[in-house]
Order: sequence, then structure tokens, then C-alpha cells
Amino acid sequence: MPVPPPIVQTGALGKSCTVVVFGASGDLTRRKLFPALYNLLLDGKLPLDTHIVGVARSSWDDATFASEMRASVATHSRRPLDDALWTQLEGRMHFLDLDFNNISEFSRLDTLLHAFESDDSSSSTRLFYLAVPPAVAPAILMGLKQNNLTSKHTDADLRHMSEVPPTICRVVVEKPFGADLASAKALNASLREAFDESQIFRIDHYLGKETVQNLLVFRFANSLFEPLWNREHIDNVQITVSEDIGVGTRGAFFEQTGLLRDVVQNHALQLLALTAMEAPISLSADDVRDEKVRVLRCLRPLDPSGVARNVVRGQYTDAAHEDKPNPAIAYVKEANVSLKSEVETFVALRLFVDNWRWGGVPFYVRAGKRLPHRVTEIALQFKRLPHRLFSTPDGGIAPNVLAIRIQPNEQIALRFYTKEPGSKTVLRNMAMEFEYGSAFGGNTPEAYERLLLDALRGDATLFTRDDEVEQQWRFVDRIREAWRAYEGTPPPAYEAGTWGPESADDLITRDGRSWRRP
Ligand code: NDP
Ligand code: BG6
Repeated sequence: MPVPPPIVQTGALGKSCTVVVFGASGDLTRRKLFPALYNLLLDGKLPLDTHIVGVARSSWDDATFASEMRASVATHSRRPLDDALWTQLEGRMHFLDLDFNNISEFSRLDTLLHAFESDDSSSSTRLFYLAVPPAVAPAILMGLKQNNLTSKHTDADLRHMSEVPPTICRVVVEKPFGADLASAKALNASLREAFDESQIFRIDHYLGKETVQNLLVFRFANSLFEPLWNREHIDNVQITVSEDIGVGTRGAFFEQTGLLRDVVQNHALQLLALTAMEAPISLSADDVRDEKVRVLRCLRPLDPSGVARNVVRGQYTDAAHEDKPNPAIAYVKEANVSLKSEVETFVALRLFVDNWRWGGVPFYVRAGKRLPHRVTEIALQFKRLPHRLFSTPDGGIAPNVLAIRIQPNEQIALRFYTKEPGSKTVLRNMAMEFEYGSAFGGNTPEAYERLLLDALRGDATLFTRDDEVEQQWRFVDRIREAWRAYEGTPPPAYEAGTWGPESADDLITRDGRSWRRP
């Protein structure tokens, strides 16, 4: 019998949609989520009948929620607030004050959703967004399941439905996904009780950045680079995720998390996986994620002596010199941080991807707070020349470098030598640059806009799969385990506004190389 055509296409939004944001009074909702939802509405990418429900402990009402979110859109949206649109949206904003640990109270959410979600024949999408600390996520999942707020269905179920399907439910879980491998596995198990894997969207917002999405296009839509993208031609890869800001108001969160779990476990390892992966069979979510998981599985595991040799931690301290680009107070003097804190705000790693393509090529990764600039970059340094024909004023010939600037001033630059015009052969190191801003104009959509829309449409390509996130934890947990030997010893200090502790330089100089200064 022929399969009936799908009523609901994965990728299409129904006539109405509801976004339930758990953690609606939090920093992430204010700075990123709500401005992203607003910009999607402004672009007409969400159905007109979109309702937004905020849930948190704060004793707000609908009007307070609306006025708080209006202020955050005014401050953080990439485009100005449109009064007419806001008036329409305001009538569709709801707030529920709820302690997530009080599971029976979730029936109030059920009542609220039934009050405005229509029962007519059009399909609707319901997205639960967990913008909360990892520790409270299991309680929310239990509350949703026990109060029948979700319906478990696979994409195949949707394709085979011959009648109008029930509300399509999806869930987004913020990073860090759990706090270690054991808690990530437990969280995956709780998610699977209420949702099918195809309904689950584990967010790493770096994957929504245009420049990160472009990594696959750059590598696999051009024949030029791929033949060079391996151990035959690449000497080393350097990945930098540097921020000039400190922990700001997030001291309490950071004390629980540290830089390794906040940035390396997710953002930095995702950049590494996208740089090192093989071409996927297709661009389907699973084919892309299969290739990333393979890279993560090839990461050489570090035992305690490997950690001692290949991983450096650091913690920012007062800047001794005001002339540093980014002087600041010490981490231990930040709000909600212990004066004796042993939490790292900087990590540098020397990693190897043990496979055919990358055998022997070091991947140097560094990430930190209160470094000189905000810059995220992937740099591939090519091998040195086999024989030197030319001399330069400084005596050496620097290797060619392909630098992919993820942010800010997004660009791709290839450095090479050229001859200066004139009667003598004088070499000049030049860069061929492609800049996103001048090519495509500014004001591109924020990562959260793309990711929210993809989650609503059911496209998981830019989200991490259960085995992927567990593999990331498996690697990072070994480092944390080895660091237990340092308990009682704070990480080496680095002056705010510098590139980390001296040991970060030693990590690379002992290989006869040096960090790029992006
Ligand atoms: P905040 O601490 O600012 O906000 C936490 C939110 O969760 C608040 O709305 C709080 O409500 C609510 N909440 C916590 N516990 C409960 C509870 N038991 N019952 C009801 N509500 C509760 O955190 P962020 O917004 O900064 O971060 C949220 C998540 O997003 C974290 O996992 C973080 O790692 C991730 N993230 C954050 C980023 C950021 O820039 N902030 C960036 C990327 C990811 P109330 O205030 O009313 O108590
Ligand atoms: C978040 C981390 O995931 O990423 C923050 O929790 C960090 O500590 C932020 O500041 C950096 O994101 P972006 O997009 O500003 O590079």
C-alpha cells in the first residue's frame, strides 16, 4: 500500500506555535533568547499565532514579563524595537511563577497552555526551552512527563500519520549538558523517557554562528583546500577562544563550572571536530554528526601524566600594569567567587587526533577569560619549506597560515610571501583576505535565531547528539580527574589582559613552535 503523503513535514512550522522558556528571568533569556525570538517574529519566520510562555521562580506576572522582555529587546536586539509588532506580541506573552522542584505544580502549565493553544484542525508546534542550570533540568523533565505535557513521537511517526497529528513537541537543552559523563548520561536517560531523540535539541550556540556553519562549506564546497587539509601539509592547528571579559555577574555559575566545562568541553571541541572531520556522506543531521563523533573518538585520551604534560590551567589575577589592553580585578575578587577559589579561568591543551588524516599533527587549543582581546580563531599552519631559496630581513621564512576568524571581524585570511616591486628581491609576507562584513554587509542573524528556528522546524544538524556530548565529557572528565591531584593548589596565575600563564607558552615552545597572536 502506498505511504500517504506527510501531513506535517519536518521543516515546516504549523499555523501556531508555543515557546515555553524555563529560566525566563535569567541572563541568557534576556540577552540572547528573547531578542532572537523577537527578530524571528520581525522577519515573519514564526507563525503570527506564536505564544511565548516564561517560567521561573520570580514572582512576576504577564505584565512584568512583557516589560522586562521589552527592555531586553531594546538593549540587546540587533534591530530596533518595532512598537506595532511589540503590541501584537505582548498579548501573546504569559508568565508562570513555578519552582521546578515542585513537580505537581506543572499542572498549572498544562492549564495555561490549554487556555490558548487551539484545538482546531491546524497542527501546532510546542517548544520547551531549558535555559536553566544543568542541575534543575531533570526536575523540569519529570514535571513535563508526569503532567503529560509532552507527546513522544519520531519523525517517521509524523511522516506516516494519515490524520492531523497532535501537537508536535520538541525540547532544547542548554549547555553545559550535565556536569560530567555520569550526569550527562542520566540527563540523556531522563530526556529519552519523555522524548524521542529526534525531538531533542542539545544546544551549543557556536554551531549557530555563520562562520562556524561556513567551515563545512569552505572545506567541502571548494576543491582547493581539501587536498592540503592533512598531515602531509599541515604542521599544526591552533584554536583560540579568547574573551576579554571576566565572569561578570556569573561568578556563582562559574565557581561550579570552570572554563574547561564552560567553554572547552563544548565550543572548543566542536570547533576542533568541524576542523578535523571527514566529509560527511550527506548533509543530514546524522551523517554530519557521525563524522564529528568519529573525530572525538580519535582524540588521544590523556592519563594523569599526559594531562600534566599537555594541559595547562590558569586563573586571572589583578593586572600589575594599567597599560595592559584589558586590565581588571582578580577572579577571586569577583562577585560570588571564593577568595580561595581554585577554579580555572584559562585552559591550554596540546591534543592529537589519532587517525590517518591527522596522525602526528598537534592541535593546540586555548580558551580563557580576561585575555587581551575577544577573538575566536582557527589557524592552520602549513609545513615549512623543504629548502630555502630566499632570505628575508628577519632571516627566516614564516610558514603559510590559513586563519579562519570566527569572531569578531569575521574573515578568512591566507598568508603567503610575495616580492616587493623593485630591482632587488625583497620578500613581503602578505595576507589574502575575505571579510564577511564587506562581502555580505553587517547585521547578520544571531546564532540563537538560526538555532531556535531549526529546533522549531525539527532540524537537528546544528545540535549535538547524545553520543557526541557523552564523548566530549569522556575526554574532559579524564582531565578533571587528573586535576584532583592539584586540590589545595590554585591554578597558576596570569595577569588580566595577558595570554595566560607562562606555562601556556612552554606547552608550545617546547615543540619549537609559538602561539599566534590573533
Ligand atoms: P541565570 O542564573 O541567570 O538564570 C537561571 C534561570 O533559571 C532563572 O530564570 C531562574 O529563575 C531559573 N531557575 C533556577 N532554578 C530554578 C528553580 N528551582 N525553579 C524555577 N526557576 C529556577 O542563568 P543563565 O541564564 O546565565 O544560564 C542558564 C543556562 O544557560 C545555563 O545552563 C548556562 O550555562 C546556559 N548558558 C548561558 C549563557 C549566558 O550567556 N548567560 C550562554 C550560554 C549558555 P529565578 O531567577 O526566578 O530564580
Ligand atoms: C557561553 C559561556 O557558552 O559562551 C560563556 O557560558 C561565554 O562563559 C560565552 O562567555 C561566549 O559566547 P560568545 O558567543 O560571546 O563567544
